[in-house]
Amino acid sequence: MILSTTLALCLSAALANALTTAQKAGMRVIYSYPGAAPPQSLLDNISAGLVSGVIFFKENIGTDFLNVISQMNAANAKSPVGLPLLLMTDQEGGQVRRLPGEPVLSAKQMGLSSNPGATSSTAGTDCASNMLSFGMNVNLAPVLDVYRQPGDFEDFFQRSFGNTSTLVDTCGTAFIKAQQAGGVAATAKHFPGLGAATHDQNTDSTPVTLGLTLSIIRSVDEVPYINAIKNGLKLVMPSWAVYKSVDTLPAGLSPFWLKTELRGRLGFTGVTISDAIEAGSLVSFGTDAQRSIIAAAAGMDLILAAGRSASQGRTIVDAMTTALGDGTLNASESDAAVARITSLRQSFA
Ligand SMILES: *[C@@H]1O[C@H](CO)[C@@H](O)[C@H](O)[C@H]1NC(C)=O
Ligand SMILES: *[C@@H]1O[C@H](CO)[C@@H](O)[C@H](O)[C@H]1NC(C)=O
Ligand SMILES: *[C@@H]1O[C@H](CO)[C@@H](O)[C@H](O)[C@H]1NC(C)=O
Repeated sequence: MILSTTLALCLSAALANALTTAQKAGMRVIYSYPGAAPPQSLLDNISAGLVSGVIFFKENIGTDFLNVISQMNAANAKSPVGLPLLLMTDQEGGQVRRLPGEPVLSAKQMGLSSNPGATSSTAGTDCASNMLSFGMNVNLAPVLDVYRQPGDFEDFFQRSFGNTSTLVDTCGTAFIKAQQAGGVAATAKHFPGLGAATHDQNTDSTPVTLGLTLSIIRSVDEVPYINAIKNGLKLVMPSWAVYKSVDTLPAGLSPFWLKTELRGRLGFTGVTISDAIEAGSLVSFGTDAQRSIIAAAAGMDLILAAGRSASQGRTIVDAMTTALGDGTLNASESDAAVARITSLRQSFA
């Protein structure tokens, strides 16, 4: 076990050294595109090793979708990076599903069922086989937010397993373990927790500030992460909300949340992935490229360019290449991020 972990880290380090600066930047970006057919430029960028993965939305899932996945994997087979692509979507359950099929129940329904742990475990297993049948390997779920009020931001679309840490912990860990055992990596979101957001506090559209104390965040919102991390959770998506009792930065741009709290206090060693970089909550942090550099410098591993435009991803890779070249981004910290992403991608080989 220790030997194989060491070996994997050495291989990751060797690979990171072999990559060009642009490919190291590309390792850290997830692209998206409009409509049913991926643009040739995206396939070319995949072959050039400038794409770590792709996020899919409903508009991308046409009748020919398996052929799209084949095209991407064929393009990726030509890449000098030599690692499987991260192929992901938001398949939470209930109303938040980009793919037809499992999980059909919402997180809330799982939490309200007579045996929440077993129901969530079955949902995780079924979700994994559904996603694998569409050629995907990463789910941007489950939501580990502990909702506060009926009809609030997380409860309105039934995205939260429940209103207590214990219930969210039981369901979340069961879902994660089962889905990952089924071969699809899980992403717990939105760290350290968006459960206190009111109905209109939507980080996709507007800046959101939450007034929770650090002690409430740790004793309520962060609790489900402890078991999830112990059980091998592979990815965490930090929230774009500001937690004003701690600092003035959205969690996903904040060294405190990304380094001190998530990796330091909670001991997370997996991959962090941003929420949509074009989100309205980041309006005061510049262009998508500028936001990405701030996020990466704060400790974010993967940047999610979810704006349905392949050139959005490419623009971010170019900006990160420049920032790595001129020292704006710390090379050893970037190599550590690339090593974590390499291990994740290698796990799907
Ligand atoms: C990557 O995509 C861009 C368009 O976004 C295109 O101009 C460029 O030629 C592509 N580069 C490579 C190396 O494939
Ligand atoms: C959770 O919701 C239930 C009703 O669904 C309510 O009885 C209970 O007081 C709530 N618990 C908390 C901690 O808010
Ligand atoms: C880069 O980050 C490492 C690890 O955090 C740190 O030890 C080093 O001093 C940093 N280098 C620069 C040039 O800031």
